[in-house]
Amino acid sequence: MNWLEDKVVFITGAGEGIGKVVVNRFLNEGVAGIVAFDLIDDRLAELQSTYGDRIETVCGDVRNLKDNEKAVELAVSKFGKLDVFVGNAGVRDGRKRLEDMGEKELHQGFDDVFGINVKGYMIGAAAVREELVKIRGCIVLTLSTSSFYVGSGPIYTASKHAALGLMRALAHELAPDIRVNGVAPSGTPTSFSDADSLVEPDSARTAIRTGGPNSNILHRQTEPEDHAAAYVLLASDQSAVMTGSVINSDAGRGVSVASQR
Ligand SMILES: NC(=O)c1ccc[n+]([C@@H]2O[C@H](COP(=O)([O-])OP(=O)(O)OC[C@H]3O[C@@H](n4cnc5c(N)ncnc54)[C@H](O)[C@@H]3O)[C@@H](O)[C@H]2O)c1
Repeated sequence: MNWLEDKVVFITGAGEGIGKVVVNRFLNEGVAGIVAFDLIDDRLAELQSTYGDRIETVCGDVRNLKDNEKAVELAVSKFGKLDVFVGNAGVRDGRKRLEDMGEKELHQGFDDVFGINVKGYMIGAAAVREELVKIRGCIVLTLSTSSFYVGSGPIYTASKHAALGLMRALAHELAPDIRVNGVAPSGTPTSFSDADSLVEPDSARTAIRTGGPNSNILHRQTEPEDHAAAYVLLASDQSAVMTGSVINSDAGRGVSVASQR
């Protein structure tokens, strides 16, 4: 059974990592079409050449309302409607500690991370609201273990706590027309980047390999593909009575945090 048959989806941060895997999984689940949104054009071009006319792409910034509206318009003009918005684009904070932050990090660093991780979700939700109401659609936001626990720097942790609050507030406000839920992955190896303002310009940006088998109580390497089914469930009518919920796709991080204290 294809759980997402005939759904039309708009997803941000679709060009890499978790978003790219969700695009692939959604197409396998029978979606009618996807509007893939990302800041980096080359990533979108690669998606387009892989999937052809089952997807449309928009190169833009999640912080820009017009860019988000363009994606909604494209979904409607190309595929006839919009059923699902997946807010997923995010950046890290360089694991900067408060004691290492100067004026640039405190102002621009904070604004960049919150601008993408929180305001980007809010602007996306504003852009899709009207179309989703028409069809009783749904929103799925990528949260994080950092929505609940400490582990990264304070800016990223605060941004993901805020994204959890936003998800809950939107679930409350948009009911009964639009369901809003979240997926909270634990550390997963992707190209996940830091905001430019929180890394030194010349520093080598080495990918951090997270989610290794020694990092979780299931003793398995966490891969982006491991989270995809959670998005399928929350985007489908199978989760019709779920709103304001989070699927913790975290290899048991929650219970292991509890047991360490
Ligand atoms: N990788 C992890 O360990 C992990 C763990 C928990 C949660 N997350 C969350 O998962 C989501 C995806 O992260 P990922 O690990 O796949 O990262 P990624 O860097 O592999 O993919 C993110 C994509 O978002 C795009 N993007 C960044 N800023 C953008 C902007 N302003 N406008 C449009 N697109 C933008 C990037 O170009 C990139 O293609 C994020 O919300 C992140 O917070 C990641």
